[in-house]
Parts: sequence; structure tokens; C-alpha cells
Amino acid sequence: MPTPPTDLSAIGDLERNPERSLQFEFVRATENAALNSLQWMGRGDKEAADAAACDAINGMFDLVEIRGEVVIGEGIKDNAPGIFLGDKLGRWGAEDPRFDIALDPIDGTSNISKGMPNSVSVMAAVLVPDGHERSMVNIPSFYVEKLAYGPAVAKAIRDGIVPPISLDLPFGHTLEIAADALGKRIGELVVTVLDRPRNQIYIDAVRSAGASLRLIADGDITAAVAPSLHDSGVDLYVGRGGAPEGILTAAALKALGGDILLRMWPRDEEERAELMKTLTREDLDRVYHTDDLVHGENAIFCATGISDSPMLPGVKLIGKTAITHSIVMRSRSRTVRYIRAVHDLEVKTIHLRSLRGEEHL
Ligand code: FBP
Repeated sequence: MPTPPTDLSAIGDLERNPERSLQFEFVRATENAALNSLQWMGRGDKEAADAAACDAINGMFDLVEIRGEVVIGEGIKDNAPGIFLGDKLGRWGAEDPRFDIALDPIDGTSNISKGMPNSVSVMAAVLVPDGHERSMVNIPSFYVEKLAYGPAVAKAIRDGIVPPISLDLPFGHTLEIAADALGKRIGELVVTVLDRPRNQIYIDAVRSAGASLRLIADGDITAAVAPSLHDSGVDLYVGRGGAPEGILTAAALKALGGDILLRMWPRDEEERAELMKTLTREDLDRVYHTDDLVHGENAIFCATGISDSPMLPGVKLIGKTAITHSIVMRSRSRTVRYIRAVHDLEVKTIHLRSLRGEEHL
């Protein structure tokens, strides 16, 4: 019997969606960042940990055929040695696909320096189609207000089953909407908040509504992604935290079907005045959703755990073996992969920018 002709349309699909295969290079980069920063766990030097993660990410991308430009990097928050806005990642061959890149080589640098849970290495990338300028929005304020919820709440809002959630609603009312959307009582809701005095308003609202509060010391990317992971046991994330972390969260929610509401939150009058030099009042007050922050469908998000978090276990060292746990997701297919990698440290090398070569861990 003659074999039917093979359908080759998937090859064109690969060309149009280069992130489909490149996503694994991003996972290698966050894996290497996690492995290279582990030597600084608990040693009280967050900048050294951050530098080690950056060295591994830069080194990895020195081998990868993309034209990557960092549009969300470190710098605005950290004075650490880092990977900054405008930095180039990749080999930048003329034909290589162009990506906007957002990254936090370590989210939770204080955590790693104290040997505490909740530190991860995170990257997101969005293809920039020919003739386009930007695929990710850079928010210029230091902090933003964030409210993140998972796909079930997003769907209930879309389908008109519950009213939209807004950053201007009293938070107790938002909890009622989320409870209705999830078919839970308010007392069954779990809400994560970054433990800072500026977030006291949310802490009080969660407590007085009788919902269950989870305070975290640092690391609000995993906390804001958690409501969109079906097994995290967390329903909402709310609070004022770093702006870059908010965009990275949006890249993950794009693939997970959740949503984040995000609005600039100037720390004081001085920052407000500085922002108003380049923004209008409307820009400053704008509430961004996931799709406003990350454009198109060619987005990927990946992260590797350094220490344990609600999203991922941290690196486990067993003799000369290291086990890493990563998550990688692609918005076009909405496939979410968990990758458990076993690294033989007697053999494995990682490529470091500082050495312009391979190094054993
Ligand atoms: P870094 O580890 O990148 O410094 O960020 C940790 C973090 O907790 C973020 O997750 C959060 O958005 C931000 O800091 C909050 O900022 P601050 O520590 O200034 O309150």
C-alpha cells in the first residue's frame, strides 16, 4: 500500500516559530545560572551570587544563534553587577531570529545569600517579527501594584460569570469576586503578599476578610505565577513589588492562561515627578494586563529553581551529581514542561563569559 505523502507544513511552522526549539537553550541558561550561583548559597553575598548567575547566562548565549536584546534587565532595582537594559545576548548573525528578552538572573538574591527558600533564575523571550520595534513593554517605575490570578478566575471574568477585577476595588471586594469565580468560600482562599510595610493595606484586607494569608520575604515572580499553577494551592497574589518581576510574571501567565493587573506605583513625589518628565498622567495611571505587556504569541518563559519555591524545587546536590528543576512554557502552544535534569558534575562544564570558555563546576 503506498505511504501517504508526509505533511511538511510543520517545517514552515518551525521557521515561523523559532522559539519552539530555542526554548531549550533558555532552559540551559537558567540551569547554568542556578548551578553557578549555588556556590554562594547562604554566604551573605547576594551580589556575588548574582554575578555568577549573569556570567553563566551571558556565557551560554555566547553560543546561541539569536539576536537577543535585553528589554527588561537588572539595574533599576539592583546595583549588582548584572545584565542590563540594552545588553545584547546571542551571536547576532544577520539571519538570526530577533528576540526581546526579559530576565532576572536571580529573583530572590537576598534569599540565596541567607540560604533561604524562594530563589529562582528566570528568563522570558518574545520573538520580534521583521519590521516590528518591541514585543515587550518596559515599565519605568521602580515598583508596580500587581494583582495576579489564575486561568479559572480569568475565564469567569471573560465569560461574564463574575465582574472584572480592578486595582481600584477595595481588596475585600476582589476577594469576593475571586471566591465566586472559584466556587470557594472566602475563608478557603489563599493569598500571597510580599511582606513589606507598603503592602500592609493588603495584609489587613486579607486578614479582615478571613482569607488565608501567605507572606513571603522576597521573590514575587514565583508567588505571582503560583495562582496559575493548578497544584500550587494559592489563589491570588497581590501587592507592590518590583516592576521587572511583573513583566516576567506576565510572560509566564501568557502561556498559563492567567492574568496580571499592573500599574506603576511611584515610591514618592520625587519619583513621580521624574516619571512625569517622560509620561503623561494617563500613562502613569494605566492598568496593564498580560497582553498589554507581552505582545504576540511567540513568547517563552523559563525558570530554574535555586532554592525551593512554590513553583519549583531548588538544586539538589548529591555527591558529584546535581539535580535541577526547571519549568519552560510557550504561549503559542500553551505547553508547560517541567524538566528534571541530572547533571554529572565530573563531566559537565558550563560556558562562562568571564572565561570565554568552559568550566567544571
Ligand atoms: P531581587 O532578588 O532581584 O533583588 O528581587 C527580590 C524581590 O523580592 C522581588 O521579587 C520583588 O519584586 C522585589 O524584590 C521587591 O523589592 P524590595 O525588596 O525593594 O521591596
